[in-house]
Formats: sequence, C-alpha cells, structure tokens
Amino acid sequence: MLTVAVLISGTGSNLRALLDAAADPGFPARIIVIGADREADGLAHAEAFGIPSFVVPWEAYDSREDWGAELDAQLRVWQPDLVVLSGLMRLLPRDVVAAWSPRIINTHPAYLPEFPGAHGVRDALAAGVAQTGASVIVVDDGVDSGPVLAQERVSVLEGDTEHALHERIKPVERRLLIDVVRRIAEGDLELGARPADLDAHRPQAADEN
Ligand code: GAR
Repeated sequence: MLTVAVLISGTGSNLRALLDAAADPGFPARIIVIGADREADGLAHAEAFGIPSFVVPWEAYDSREDWGAELDAQLRVWQPDLVVLSGLMRLLPRDVVAAWSPRIINTHPAYLPEFPGAHGVRDALAAGVAQTGASVIVVDDGVDSGPVLAQERVSVLEGDTEHALHERIKPVERRLLIDVVRRIAEGDLELGARPADLDAHRPQAADEN
C-alpha cells in the first residue's frame, strides 16, 4: 500500500477527491497525513476523515529555508512513499525538493509548460487562449517545470471568468491526480526511488562534515 502525504494551502477540493477515492478499500494508496502552510480550510477534510494533520505557518519563519526545514521535519515523521502538493501555494526550498524527489508531485491548473506559477488560470485567460488545461507533474527546482506525468486540455469558453474556468479545470485535475496516484501505487508509473532512505541519509551526511 502506497502511503501518501498531501500538502495544501486552500480549500482542498482536490484533496477531498483524493480522500474520497482512497476511502475505497480497493484503492492502492492511503493518505496518512495532511500538511498546510496556514490554517487552511481544507484541513477540515483531514478531520472529517480522521487523518492526522499539521500546519507549518509560513509567517512564523524568517526564511523559505527555515520554513521548508520544518515542513521537511514534519514529513520525515510520517515517512510517506509519496508527497502530493495539492494546491500548496509556496515554492519549496531546493533542499526539500532534493530530499523527496522524485517522489513528490504537484497538480497545476494549466497545460504545462504553458502558464506556470501561482496564477495559471488567470494567466491563461489574460493570454486569450482557446484552450488551457490541467497537469500533474513531478516537482523539481523550477516553477512548475518538472516532468509531466499526466495532462489534459480544457476549453476556454466565451465570457469565462477566472473562477468559472478554474471550476471546470478542477474536476479534470482531480481525475488526473487520482489516476496518477493509482498508477504510481500499482507500479504502472515509475517515479524511481528517493536518493536514499531519509533517516539513513542524515547520519551519513553528518559524518561527512
Ligand atoms: C488547484 O487548482 C491547484 O492546481 C492549484 O490550486 C488549486 C487548489 O484548489 N495549484 C496551483 O495553482 C499551484 N501552482 P483546492 O484547494 O480546492 O484543491
């Protein structure tokens, strides 16, 4: 059984869909912990499903690196097989990406590499494209620049608002995300192992100093 940690910032509607999917005993992955960078509304889903959660408040840290180090420490407690960024609206520091890569994935409301960043839906609308989309990618050091695992087009309709378009993209994201997690769990989608077991890696790094 693949164990999954999910990180969020917002309402967690995609998280909710993953929780619903994982509640099926036949689903090959289990969400073991949910983390957030703030007291996100989506944490209510963790409570509803009886899943542990943690908050590492962005504002409480002096730097992205300090914040990321605490986030990483919290994840290490749970040792998930996979980390899913599901609307986490912060860039992770390089060290954290390196520690979990390639077993860390992100869902994004655009057809990457088009419209990366925090405003993927708004930027697509502003560009006047006829189609945008949804993508699930492996997280790397860049902004939404990692390898694409799954993506699908969504049409922009006349008179679309950012909200309306985003609400049509999200169900596609959910379907892609659930499918990608299932395929990783079943071994149909090979991400590769993390560079080393995290606990084993630490003392070794200390010895090298
Ligand atoms: C999702 O559309 C997700 O792709 C997006 O935030 C939304 C979260 O919705 N993430 C990004 O834009 C990251 N660049 P949710 O909280 O309702 O699941």
